Amino acid sequence: MTKQMPNIVADALQKPTQENLTLTAPSTHGPRILLLHGSLRTVSYSRLMNEEAARVLETFGAETKVFDPSGLPLPDECDATHPKVAELRDLVNWCEGMVWCSPERHGTITGIMKAQIDWIPLSLGAVRPTQGKTLAVMQVNGGSQSFNTVNALRVLGRWMRMITIPNQSSVAKAFLEFDDDGRMKPSGFYNRMVDVMEELVKFTLLTRDVSSYLTDRYSERVESGKDLIDRVNSKRA
Ligand SMILES: Cc1cc2nc3c(=O)[nH]c(=O)nc-3n(C[C@H](O)[C@H](O)[C@H](O)COP(=O)(O)O)c2cc1C
Repeated sequence: MTKQMPNIVADALQKPTQENLTLTAPSTHGPRILLLHGSLRTVSYSRLMNEEAARVLETFGAETKVFDPSGLPLPDECDATHPKVAELRDLVNWCEGMVWCSPERHGTITGIMKAQIDWIPLSLGAVRPTQGKTLAVMQVNGGSQSFNTVNALRVLGRWMRMITIPNQSSVAKAFLEFDDDGRMKPSGFYNRMVDVMEELVKFTLLTRDVSSYLTDRYSERVESGKDLIDRVNSKRA
């Protein structure tokens, strides 16, 4: 076979078979989920939605952490030793899955949402902190229902090499969907959010112990470990 494909490096070829999937002892702790929202408003429906989602996730047995983006500098405004950047990066390393909930602003995600994602490095040395982790995307709208923001978040999830689950949530006129205590009212939007969290927990349970197998790539096996580190740390990257 390799004779017909002269560019293939045979040593790095690995037929994806069940035998190649080396299962370790399954993790027993609750799935660790980090929730990021994209707003600094005092009453923020994207934050309230994430807090509601965190309650649902905990009911499903997950451990959750919600990151507060206030005080996070803009990307490249300072270096990564800034305490808010370090806090975000530690949380990303801790988690096995994430929820990203952004408001729609001018038809897309907010700058606050993007700044958080931009502070998450694609690689830290040879470790890729988001690669192979699960992701659920949600958005809140001031207007009628749109999917621009969840679509933009999906593109970012792919860029960060995450396993973005199929289900998603977009809440129209979010200001009508929360009560004075900040709790989400019963509705089809609430039920959909529960569906998304249920699916996120299932995908996380199914993939977290095999994520290194799922993300093992031919092109990176061909490249030496040193070349990989040099490339991802290159100033031009
Ligand atoms: C500058 C600006 C642009 C906005 N653009 C949109 C938009 O394109 N589509 C929409 O549905 N809502 C839009 N909104 C409304 C917000 O999505 C809505 O207020 C949302 O609840 C804000 O999220 P938060 O409650 O988490 O702060 C916009 C609001 C602002 C201030």
